[in-house]
Amino acid sequence: MLINKKFLATIGLMSAVVFVSTTSMKQSQADDEKKFKNLKVLPKNISDKQLDAVMDNWSHSLGVRCNFCHVRNEETKKMDWALDTKPEKEMARQMYRMTSDINKKYFKAGKDSLGMVMQLGVNCNMCHQGKAHPEVKEPENPRRRGPGPQGQAPQGPPPAGQQPPATPPQQ
Ligand code: HEC
Ligand code: HEC
Repeated sequence: MLINKKFLATIGLMSAVVFVSTTSMKQSQADDEKKFKNLKVLPKNISDKQLDAVMDNWSHSLGVRCNFCHVRNEETKKMDWALDTKPEKEMARQMYRMTSDINKKYFKAGKDSLGMVMQLGVNCNMCHQGKAHPEVKEPENPRRRGPGPQGQAPQGPPPAGQQPPATPPQQ
């Protein structure tokens, strides 16, 4: 859990770096020439290194390769990173907007009642955890865990007024 938190904090910091860079970076002439062409959510003056870090982060969070969102130009046979051909790329922009909106609105730095600083917020990996399609499932109800005898589903709801045991009976 501690490792996990540190990992998340690293990603959190990384996005902070991206935001800070918007205001504090000064572009050299050389950088201007190879400026990225089609950035709509990331800062336009992001450095190569920062963009790489974001792209790696997104790929790892979703457990995919670059071509999950990017396509190659069939004429040049090279990846054309600026193309918006795949809907997944636009989806990723939407996800980025959602994530930073959540963080701006609900994760303003502050302390909770235990005095713990809330500094993490949400990030791609928190939901995706290495999967492009995060599994949407109901929370497990410990009272109903596991099949009953002969693999049948456990009995239906208990008669009114009777509480089911907190743990399943040992068989
Ligand atoms: C989950 C989708 C996704 C994955 C995976 C992904 N990217 Fe991206 N990439 C994007 C989006 C979205 C943008 C545009 C960001 C914006 O609009 O600000 C982008 C932009 C870029 C750009 C800038 C293109 C330009 O000129 O505008 C480069 C370069 C790039 N990605 C490289 C990569 C590489 C290399 C990988 C694999 C390591 C990768 N991407 C993986 C979604 C993705
Ligand atoms: C609050 C949880 C949450 C966060 C945070 C989140 N996502 Fe998602 N994402 C989802 C859910 C849920 C889906 C829909 C999965 C489905 O339809 O199967 C999804 C779908 C996607 C898809 C489309 C996959 C497909 O093939 O249709 C992309 C791309 C994506 N997310 C990228 C990102 C990126 C990049 C980030 C971080 C900037 C991010 N997501 C943050 C929950 C989240």
